[in-house]
Amino acid sequence: KPDPRPQEETVKYEIVDGVAWVSLNRPDKKNCQSPKLNRQMKVVLDELEFRDDVQVLVLTGEGDAWSAGMDLLEYFRHAEQEGLHKVRQHQREAYAWWERLRWYEKATVGMINGWCFGGAYGPLFACDIAIASDKAQFGLSEINWAILPGGGASKVAADLMPYRKAMYHAMMGENLTGKQAEEQGLVTECVPHDQLKARVQEVADKLKAKDSQALRATKWAMRRVMEMTYDNAEDYLIRTQEALNDFGGWETRKEATKQFLDEKTFKPGLGAFDK
Ligand code: ACO
Repeated sequence: KPDPRPQEETVKYEIVDGVAWVSLNRPDKKNCQSPKLNRQMKVVLDELEFRDDVQVLVLTGEGDAWSAGMDLLEYFRHAEQEGLHKVRQHQREAYAWWERLRWYEKATVGMINGWCFGGAYGPLFACDIAIASDKAQFGLSEINWAILPGGGASKVAADLMPYRKAMYHAMMGENLTGKQAEEQGLVTECVPHDQLKARVQEVADKLKAKDSQALRATKWAMRRVMEMTYDNAEDYLIRTQEALNDFGGWETRKEATKQFLDEKTFKPGLGAFDK
């Protein structure tokens, strides 16, 4: 049976001191991504992206899962029963919010509190920084039910992990612990479960203190240069910095250098200037 809960309940969020804590909210279904959840997540991301009271977005999951991937019942079986148009519609709805998150205006932190499978690798990659609990488990489980890791999942593993590890991960359908995910590059770091929220808060607070225009330009630049040759990247980064200058960048830089060179109130090597 399809999930009877209204679409609005599939995603929860609260904003606390500039941080939007967004959670996938189908804990009884291990936060697997149903078409309703995917539609709602796009609504929520759009709503939060340009709010002045949001500087950082944290994506987590209610209960003991981050996300058990795509909903095998509603995203796959039901759509396949209806036909190709439904399959494509569901793919587009899922890919739409992952894409929005990849190029989000605000800094994003994945707080990986538990299970993370297959289709969850899209949003995992989309988060700029990913902090995992030592209780989290990561799997490309597609091979265990006879499909390939689609929806970008193979690409995420190939881009983030060493090649031999990624290939093994995709072929074997064995799970990685949070610690192994950290060692193999799938997440930024792994922390003890009871310290997860505090560590994410700490990261969010540091991000909040940065100049928001420079931070956005930095995260987008990092994603773009991954696919560029050295020379293209060098040129692109000059153009991007020059564009940033026109978005108030000159003023903030002048202020920051004044605080360092003249007032001697901060050192760029040791932290952010006072905005
Ligand atoms: N799709 C549909 N339903 C799901 C999914 C999913 N991806 N994951 C969990 N559920 C449902 C279960 O069917 C169960 O429903 P029920 O209460 O109606 O029986 C409920 O969520 C709770 O899950 P359990 O399996 O009972 O929880 P348990 O703690 O024993 O196991 C685990 C958790 C390991 C995450 C297990 O649910 C699982 O293997 N889920 C599928 C993970 C997966 O391989 N996802 C697909 C990745 S590939 C892709 O996304 C394209």
